[in-house]
Amino acid sequence: MVRQTVPPRIRWAVGAMDISSSDQLLEIGCGPGAAAEVICPRLASGKLFCIDRSESGVDRTRRRNQVFVDAGRLTVRQIDLATLRVPVRRLDKAFAFNVNLFWVRDCADEVALIHDRLVSGGKLFLFYEARMREQLPKVVGGASNALAAAGFEVSRLDSTEPPVIGIVGTKP
Ligand SMILES: C[S@@+](CC[C@H](N)C(=O)[O-])C[C@H]1O[C@@H](n2cnc3c(N)ncnc32)[C@H](O)[C@@H]1O
Repeated sequence: MVRQTVPPRIRWAVGAMDISSSDQLLEIGCGPGAAAEVICPRLASGKLFCIDRSESGVDRTRRRNQVFVDAGRLTVRQIDLATLRVPVRRLDKAFAFNVNLFWVRDCADEVALIHDRLVSGGKLFLFYEARMREQLPKVVGGASNALAAAGFEVSRLDSTEPPVIGIVGTKP
């Protein structure tokens, strides 16, 4: 089997979330499952719940991380965020990387769902590759407004190498 690499942008984002071994986590739009590969070895009592609306996304994440699924640390479901049901109601952190819905359209219902399931002090991280700098104001503005409207306190993370921006919502 071909060994899949973890892109530096994903490693940076996982590092930026300061994950603890007991964190209850949600990933929205897991795609190839690279973030799960980096996060799951860090978890002890913590768990990661990954969703993707595409069948190929959940298949890839599951196949790549079968060992963590078998160990009970990772659950992967094919579901659209709009119809989210999480086994854990009290999430410490939720995150998405390169998932455009948070800045391209009205996502008030989806963001409210996540806000409802986070603990007080919990965080939602929206990461985007920042290769096209001219697009950034639109991305940052759209995502920040969506988080603020749901009641999050909004802050920002920035990396030039790898080029990544993170819009962070903290639930008061
Ligand atoms: C560009 S890919 C990014 C994959 C991965 N996060 C990464 O950075 O490599 C976006 C993923 O988000 C998923 N996605 C987009 N909107 C979604 C939604 N509303 N609910 C669940 N998954 C969604 C897509 O199916 C796709 O797999």
